Amino acid sequence: MLKKDSDITGTKLTSYEKYYNNFLMIDIHTHILPSIDDGPETIEESIELCKVAASDGIKKIVATPHSNNGVYEPKSSEIIKAVDALNTQLVVQQIDIDIFPGAEIHISEGLVESVKNGDVLTINNGGKFILLEFPFVFIPPGSDKFVFNLKANGIIPIIAHAERISAFQRKPELVEQMVTIGARVQINANCLSKRADRGERKCAEWLLKKKLVHFIASDTHSLRGRPPILSEAVGCASRIVGKEEARALVCRNPEQIINGLDIC
Ligand SMILES: [Fe+2]
Repeated sequence: MLKKDSDITGTKLTSYEKYYNNFLMIDIHTHILPSIDDGPETIEESIELCKVAASDGIKKIVATPHSNNGVYEPKSSEIIKAVDALNTQLVVQQIDIDIFPGAEIHISEGLVESVKNGDVLTINNGGKFILLEFPFVFIPPGSDKFVFNLKANGIIPIIAHAERISAFQRKPELVEQMVTIGARVQINANCLSKRADRGERKCAEWLLKKKLVHFIASDTHSLRGRPPILSEAVGCASRIVGKEEARALVCRNPEQIINGLDIC
């Protein structure tokens, strides 16, 4: 948890820094809406997740329910309605978090059309960034062309939890190729902990060292397993990429894409 007198890397803060640092973290990958996928079942559980996030210094959350994966197919309007309802409850309960709409979209044919038609949600419904989920076991042939085609159509894919994909664990250079084509990369906060799966941590650390990570996010589904906590991961990442870059992965870069602006 974030301590009031230190920043997300554990460094003691001046008064100005306390003001500046403590409300900037943004979580761009969460399953936080009730009864829409395998996240919380009730709005009370969603609120509990938000309280934990707020305690950690998170100010904005993009809700990214599973979409387009054959199991969960929520309509964009359904997600937006659930985001509005959760935001209303957060105001009522005076929890200082803003929720933005989004989706975690499984890779599939026809995705460009689905994005353009609004059948699947982009980050903050801005039409530009999508959180893209690859299968865990293999990378479908032609995925590089798929990413290139999205980019050619003005859609920038963010590869969700790249470190969890076993093909990327075996050959992380594949992630580098995707970034070269135009993809951006998100890793899960819990993968950098000493308690993490060894293969996931090794892959994530390799990606960080190669400057191929653009976002750290929680991918929270519940308080068990992956709670919405980013501060610990920022501390771990800062030992690899430095404090400023580690902060950017949860502050500047997420803010950019919420506002529809690309990052380098
Ligand atoms: Fe997810």
